[in-house]
Amino acid sequence: MANRFLSLFLLICFTGSALAQGPPAVTAQRSLIAGPMAGSVELRDVIIWLEVAPAVKQVAIRYYPKGKPALAKTEAWKGALGNRYNPLKITLANLEPGTTYAYDVLLNGGKVRLPAPAMFTTKALWQHRVPAPDFTFLAGSCAYFNEPPFDRPGKPYGNDSSIFETMARTPADFMLWLGDNWYTREVDYSSVPGLQYRAHRDRSMPVLQGFLQAMPHYAIWDDHDFGPNNANKSYIFRDVSREIFSQYWPNPTFGENGRGIYTKYSYSDVDFFLLDGRYWSSAGELPDSVDGQPNPDKKMYGDEQMEWLRNALIQSNATFKFIVTGSQALNPISIYDSFHHFPVEYESFMRFLKSNDIPGIIFLTGDRHHSEVIRLPREDTYPLYDITSSPLTSGVGGVLYGNEKNNPYRVPGTLVVTQNFASLSVTGVKGKRRLKVVFMDREQRELAVFEVSQQDLR
Ligand SMILES: [Fe+2]
Repeated sequence: MANRFLSLFLLICFTGSALAQGPPAVTAQRSLIAGPMAGSVELRDVIIWLEVAPAVKQVAIRYYPKGKPALAKTEAWKGALGNRYNPLKITLANLEPGTTYAYDVLLNGGKVRLPAPAMFTTKALWQHRVPAPDFTFLAGSCAYFNEPPFDRPGKPYGNDSSIFETMARTPADFMLWLGDNWYTREVDYSSVPGLQYRAHRDRSMPVLQGFLQAMPHYAIWDDHDFGPNNANKSYIFRDVSREIFSQYWPNPTFGENGRGIYTKYSYSDVDFFLLDGRYWSSAGELPDSVDGQPNPDKKMYGDEQMEWLRNALIQSNATFKFIVTGSQALNPISIYDSFHHFPVEYESFMRFLKSNDIPGIIFLTGDRHHSEVIRLPREDTYPLYDITSSPLTSGVGGVLYGNEKNNPYRVPGTLVVTQNFASLSVTGVKGKRRLKVVFMDREQRELAVFEVSQQDLR
């Protein structure tokens, strides 16, 4: 009975905290663990992600066209609550295209006081009406938040996480996370609770919250948020890891038939093909070739995913078609996990791109702990580019000390060997659309710039 009174007392405290007029930080810490974060923004709907404390009994989103609170509607969470971790997604439907909405998070019926007003803007219905809108998005990979008792000893691997505050201030229509978005460690990747803990703990970091709220987010994974370093299809928790990834990211879909995380979304006249380079990947340690022939048993994406990708690409009319994948794809001299080390699949895909004369292909990758643009010439067709953005906060790599120091395939002036993120803008009139990539540091300084036009990619 004493416990029941204690539970009632705690419930009143937490309910009160959502309603209270006290300091917002306290409110946020007690009941709202992380978020809100929008994702999968479409013309008439959006997913709002957030994580709440176990004591929260009711969650809802109240939303209305910006400046018109009289038109507010409320959508309640109808799933389970009260678990150890409670990440959840609420879909707001039947919205108006091209409209900015404000929204409130309601916990136990009380409005949570957020540090800034929460808003999202639905996609415009421009097709067959007006030119494709210009837009900007951010990208980055390799985010490590320190936790000394469980990190490797010595110099902390995670660097200054104020880069997320800089990114929150950088104007953009969305953020695309390129993998290694969190790092599972020995204490995390060996069990289900460990995997859940690392996702929950990283996502709850206060320095991240403003950025999560500032723009919609999309994500792929790489080895460290999938499992151990260089993890592959043999990872025994790959389905659990997929489940956690799908709980913590508001992507439109996650693979097919309960397998993998690949998906696709569009923004303006650009398509994004988000690949899963881990769920089906053979071990990177397998030899690329056997008896002088490409090793048929070594695949990175798997037949099911590659068939989906080929069909999705050939159907796409997009000006730019971003193939988004965690590990670098095209760098011919990299000794690390890279699409080109899976030669049967790689050569087959290169033949497919060339024989079908698909324009506008650009690879967007992470993982490397440095940023750069790789240019891969091809016979009788346009060169392919691999834009690599890394690291957000994890350690900086040793590219300056190995065989890649003077990589002849690197676009001169694009190497960045410090904490950074990428800002990518698509602008211009039809037929002359341009992509501009700017690698930026924590102070929003431009470290390197790369530009390419749609005419260069046909
Ligand atoms: Fe990685």
